[in-house]
Amino acid sequence: MGKWGLSRDPVIPVPWLTTAKTEYGRNKVLLRPGKGLMDWIKISTNKSLASQRLPSVTAEELIKHNKENDCWILLFGNVYDVTKYLEYHPGGIPELMRAAGTDASDLFNQYHAWVNYQNMLKACIVGPFRGSASKLPRAKDAILDNPSLKPSVPVSTILTMDSFALW
Ligand code: HEM
Repeated sequence: MGKWGLSRDPVIPVPWLTTAKTEYGRNKVLLRPGKGLMDWIKISTNKSLASQRLPSVTAEELIKHNKENDCWILLFGNVYDVTKYLEYHPGGIPELMRAAGTDASDLFNQYHAWVNYQNMLKACIVGPFRGSASKLPRAKDAILDNPSLKPSVPVSTILTMDSFALW
């Protein structure tokens, strides 16, 4: 299994297999079995899933954690270690990785300001950000906004009952 989906090649995600546009033009990702919201709630409730708990986090520290196996993001004043959450993110790993090691607040609001991240990421809290936000790199451009990777067919044409038929 590749790190972003069904491909064995970890470099290129396979959007035509793992994502599709809804009728409203939003990217949906097919989460793997056992990686839904209820599963996340089960593994994260009353746990600490952050690699560290710090009294405060500087920009220099946050920037270091920008990899898929060590991914911290700043969200509205607090830093979260979302490494364990990545596979459960309904928008997909690459979307969330755009903000790895930086301030995710604007992107987060842009996509889903209504999502209750405070509750969902309780287990992932590292600590309050006490650094200079201007030292942080900007979030990466949207991978799925890249026209060469953009799926152009609606989800209904990708997943039909035939997809589950035995041949
Ligand atoms: C900051 C970088 C992030 C980006 C670029 C991003 C992007 C996206 C995208 C493209 C979707 C699919 C939109 C759709 O449902 O049609 C999505 C869904 C979602 N994301 Fe994120 N996301 C980010 C961070 C987060 C974080 C930190 C959380 C916190 C728990 C989160 C939770 C969710 C949830 C719950 C959904 C499903 C929303 C729904 O179905 O209405 N995301 N995200």
